[in-house]
Amino acid sequence: MRELVFATNNQHKTQEVRNLLLNDYKVLNLNDIGCTTDIPETGSTFAENATLKSSYVTEHYQLDCFADDSGLEIEALNQEPGIFSARYSGVKDDQVNLNLVLQKMEGQANRKARFRTVISLMRGTENFLFEGIINGTILERPIGTQGFGYDPIFVPDGYNQTFAEMSMEQKNQISHRALAMKKLISFLKEQKPV
Ligand code: IMP
Repeated sequence: MRELVFATNNQHKTQEVRNLLLNDYKVLNLNDIGCTTDIPETGSTFAENATLKSSYVTEHYQLDCFADDSGLEIEALNQEPGIFSARYSGVKDDQVNLNLVLQKMEGQANRKARFRTVISLMRGTENFLFEGIINGTILERPIGTQGFGYDPIFVPDGYNQTFAEMSMEQKNQISHRALAMKKLISFLKEQKPV
């Protein structure tokens, strides 16, 4: 069976994709291929960062690979935190970063935001991009304890709960990451491995 690398160290994410591609691909993660490099994410867009990760693996391991990059984009903050979502305040601390967003949004009437994921699939020398977006609103105070990152302050359009009030199953049906992943999976299933 054709091998495909998911450029992640997250075992949970890997298992999810493995289940979806069970009969089509043998899905390996960075740990499985012995890649311990902290692949630099120096791009200025989600697509660039995802492509840096996928192409690193393809170049160094001669294996097809996909990688994802995500973040929160807030209209009133010129689409920040964007690619800086994980370290918006300078530190990788979800609580501190969420508080910085709330502080910057104080008194702001326009509370429109979106979560966005871009997946890059490197197949040989070809790069295919898949995008998932979910629009929503930023609250003034956090609500809910599930999830991670900015989940407690984000209410997706059409719902009256934050991502942090939803079960993981519920969030996984509608999230930006799930939408991008669905596009990737249907592309991989349509295409015969070459
Ligand atoms: P990653 O590219 O999936 O690692 O996401 C980068 C950062 O974006 C995370 O560290 C979070 O701060 C934020 N983020 C991405 N997806 C989500 C989400 O589903 N909920 C909350 N925050 C997220």
